Formats: sequence, C-alpha cells, structure tokens
Amino acid sequence: MSFIRFSDLCSSGRVKGQRVFIRADLNVPQDDAGHITEDTRIRASIPAIQMALDAGAAVMVTSHLGRPTEGAFKPEDSLQPVAARLGELMDRPVRLVANWVDGDFSVAPGEVVLLENCRLNVGEKKNSPELAKKLGALCDIFVHDAFGTSHRAEGTTYGIAETAPIACAGPLLAAEMDAIAAALLAPKRPLVAIVAGSKVSTKLTILKSLANNVDQLIVGGGIANTFMLAAGLKIGKSLAEADLVNEAKAVIEAMKARGAEVPIPTDVVTAKAFSADAVATVKKATEVDDDDLILDIGPETAQQLAAQLMKAGTIVWNGPVGVFEFAAFENGTKVIAEAIAKSSAFSIAGGGDTLAAIAKYGIESEVDYISTGGGAFLEMLEGKVLPAVEILQQRCQGKQAE
Ligand code: 3PG
Ligand code: MG
Repeated sequence: MSFIRFSDLCSSGRVKGQRVFIRADLNVPQDDAGHITEDTRIRASIPAIQMALDAGAAVMVTSHLGRPTEGAFKPEDSLQPVAARLGELMDRPVRLVANWVDGDFSVAPGEVVLLENCRLNVGEKKNSPELAKKLGALCDIFVHDAFGTSHRAEGTTYGIAETAPIACAGPLLAAEMDAIAAALLAPKRPLVAIVAGSKVSTKLTILKSLANNVDQLIVGGGIANTFMLAAGLKIGKSLAEADLVNEAKAVIEAMKARGAEVPIPTDVVTAKAFSADAVATVKKATEVDDDDLILDIGPETAQQLAAQLMKAGTIVWNGPVGVFEFAAFENGTKVIAEAIAKSSAFSIAGGGDTLAAIAKYGIESEVDYISTGGGAFLEMLEGKVLPAVEILQQRCQGKQAE
C-alpha cells in the first residue's frame, strides 16, 4: 500500500519548523460527568504527536468526540477532558483552541495545541469544499492518524487530505494498515478468522469476503446459530436469522470448494432464559430442546477450536463466541482467548466486544496487534479500501508523478 509515511518525512528533515496538522481519533468513552473511562485511543495517538514535536514542528491536533450538531457548541461536546488527559500523559501543557477554522490562533514550533471537536465545524460531515480549503490552508503537512475514523470521508479525514500541501499517514494509521495487510494479504497459513456477534446480517459482507481467503472460518454467537441452522441442526429459541440460512449455506459451500471449512459446534451451553443466574446446561449440538437458548459453545467445541488456533499461522479475531459477560457462559470465549494468547500465530483483533474480552482475560500483551478501529476495522475485513486511505494513496501517486 503506497502512501507517504510521516515517519519518513520526519527522518528526512522535512518537518522542521513546519505547521503539522494531525487528525487523530480521540473519540474516547466518557461517563455522565464527562470523565474519560478508557483512554487507549489517546495513548495510541501520542507517538505521532511526539514524532512531530521531536522533528521540530508546530503541532495542531484535532479529533471528533461523539456526533455533535455542527455549529452548535455544547459543553459536553468539548475536547477539554481529552486535552487535560493528553497533557498529563505527555507531561506538557496542551492548550485547547476553539473556533479555529479561520486560523485565528498561533502555534509555535515545539508547541502542541488541541483544536476543539472538529465535528462542530459546519461542513465537516459532508466534507464541504469551502471547509476543506480552509483546513488545508492551516498547515504545511497533514498527517492522518485517525484509523478509527478512516472509513469516513469527512472534512478532517478526506477534504484536508486533498487540499493540504502534503498529506501523509501517521504512525498509528500506518501500523494498522501494515498489521491488517500482514494478516490478510500475505498471511502465514493456516489463516484462521473468528467472526462472532449477534447477527449474520451485519457481518455478511465480512463472512463472504473472508470465505475467499481464510483456511478456517470460526463463527460464534448468534452468527453460529444461523450456521447451525444451515447445517441442519435445531437451535430452539436461540437468536438467529432464519432468512439468512441460504447465505450461511453459500459461505459453507464456498469454503468447502476451496478445501477450507466453517467448523460447526458439536456441543453447546444452553439456558432457558437470558440472564446471569440462569442454569447453564452443556449438551450435544444435536440435542438442543425447543425452549433452549444457546449462550456459548460447549467445552468439547472450545477445545477443538483451541487446538486449531494453536496450529494457525495467522489469526484474525472479531467477536466473542458466547455471552462472556455472564460467568456461566464465558468458557468458550475464555478458552479461545487463552489459545490465541498461547498460539505462536500472528494475531490481530478488533471491535469493542473483542477488546473487552481481551481486557477481561488479560491477554493484551499476547495479541500481536489490537486495532483501535471499530467500524474501520470491520470495513478493512470486508476488503474495502477506506476512503481516508484511498485519498492518501492518490496524493502519494500525484506526488510521484510530479
Ligand atoms: C468510532 O468510535 O468508531 C470512531 O471514532 C468513529 O466514530 P463515528 O462512528 O461517530 O464516525
Ligand atoms: Mg500469540
């Protein structure tokens, strides 16, 4: 994938004294009082900022926070808590600048300012040409480092990449692209993907796309239930999408035709109600009752999948395979997480629930790459070229043609 890398610009000395505009994804969760509850994305954004400072740039950083109404500032939309956390983590003052689009502020080389929530600017969402022009005029170098927002073509993710004198990828964006490319373009085989979640419908494109590439496609959660239906098994009252059984069959057939497989659970953990204190019963996949809810894969299935993960060359993980939030139904996800941790495979994981499972089982340091993207990670798995990346590639080619 060819785009200009900010690290290359820095090491070639081209950043000194330049005005650098970094689009980060600092969209972190907050509690009702506005306190940041999880700051992974802020931490992940620091290397680009530090790199720009070390290279002698005047540094502007912006991000969206939530989905505010353009042109209508409300205190809860402010990046102020993010500025404070960033300052703490970097051990330096980070000044927050509001109403910045027309450039009525100053930033000196060696200084970093945080530009207020970019989704407050009129025209951001629809990527208006007027806004894009103003954004591009603010900087000498635009650095896209917001992987989590790279599936959006907005003012600060796309428009500015068209209008800035130079547009390049920051270290986080580049690392995300490299990790996903390593997992999907030239993977060490066998390549095993775990795609789980409540609905086939939201992940159908991913399943179809992966069915052309992976050696094993492990399905879990409600998705597995639909695949069990497709395999002719009964699933009782379990969550499934009966209208997508044919699509599931097509995925199974496509995999078979390539000599690959979709492992169907041989045992499951069921309950009569969806609740933390429901009685959990392990049974064969062929013995599910009409009033059963399947809430996890069974221990035999978990062990079989774990054995396959141990033999894998590459693992892509999106989605817990059971209701791991409830102790009685967490075993499948736990066994899978532990197998990924132990496996020597190159492993990559992404998605909110997956990150929660990784944190719960404490395997952060054993997963080779944990993506900061939610929707962006899923679109990459679908095989899409993300718009914000596509424009960086275009700008890179344009530059080479000069
Ligand atoms: C996310 O949290 O997934 C990203 O920051 C993108 O946010 P959005 O879905 O509001 O564009
Ligand atoms: Mg490993």
